[in-house]
Amino acid sequence: MTAPSVPTSPHDPNVPAAAATTAGPTMWDRRYAEHPWPTEPDPMLVELVSPLVPGTAVDLGCGPGRNAVWLAGRGWQVTGVDTSSVGLGQARQRAAEAGTSIETVLADLTEYEAPAGGFDLVVLANIHPAPHEREALFARVAAAVAPGGHLYVVGHHVDDLGRAGPPDPERLYTEAVLADAFPTLTVERLERSDRRAGGPEAPLRDVVLWAVRPEVADAPDTAVAR
Ligand SMILES: C[S@@+](CC[C@H](N)C(=O)[O-])C[C@H]1O[C@@H](n2cnc3c(N)ncnc32)[C@H](O)[C@@H]1O
Repeated sequence: MTAPSVPTSPHDPNVPAAAATTAGPTMWDRRYAEHPWPTEPDPMLVELVSPLVPGTAVDLGCGPGRNAVWLAGRGWQVTGVDTSSVGLGQARQRAAEAGTSIETVLADLTEYEAPAGGFDLVVLANIHPAPHEREALFARVAAAVAPGGHLYVVGHHVDDLGRAGPPDPERLYTEAVLADAFPTLTVERLERSDRRAGGPEAPLRDVVLWAVRPEVADAPDTAVAR
C-alpha cells in the first residue's frame, strides 16, 4: 500500500499522519521497524486510570505498547492485541525491560474474540476505523468491558485533518461520532482534548471517551437473602 502524501506533525507522537489508519500489518511492521515509536503513555489515560484498582486490561491496537507497558507497570494484567508482530515484539521487550510483562495476541480487531465482559479496562487508542467498520468494531469493544469496568477511547479529532491521523476525514473523530457509539455503557466523559503532546503552541486535537459498564444489579430476592 502506498501511503498518501500528507503533512506530518513534528509534535505528533503518532507521525507519520498518513500511516495512522487501519491498514494491514505490513505498513505498521515497517513503520515500527524503521522509526522508534513514542514510549510515553497517553497522559489522559494516565489521569483517568491512576485512581483505579488494577485488574485485567486489554489494549486493542496496542502497537509497541506505550499504554500497555505503563498499565502493566501499575499492576494491571495486560493483554495487547495488534496485527503488527513487530509492534507486539517491541511491546513485550519494553515490558521485560521495565521488569514486567504483557500477554500479546497477533490478531485483527475485526476478528479478535475478547472474552465477553473479560476486562476491567479496555483501551482503544488511535485506531481510526472507516465509518462502515465502526458499528461492528465498537460493539466488540464494548462487549469486552466487565461490569464496573471502564472503556477508554481516544482518536484524532477531525480538526487535525492534514496535521495528524489518517488523511481520510471520514475516519477521524468528533464528539458526535462517539456520543452514541457504546449504548451499553455509561459515558462519564466525552470531550475534545487538546492536552496530549503537540506542545503548547500546537496542541493536537483528540476526542476522548471514558465510559463505564454499569454493575449488574442484584435481583431483589438475592439482595434480601444476603
Ligand atoms: C496509530 S497506531 C496506535 C498504537 C497505540 N494504540 C498507541 O496509541 O500508541 C495504530 C495501531 O493499530 C494497529 N491496528 C490498526 N488496525 C488494526 C486492526 N484492524 N486490528 C489490529 N490492529 C490494528 C496497527 O497495527 C497499529 O499498531
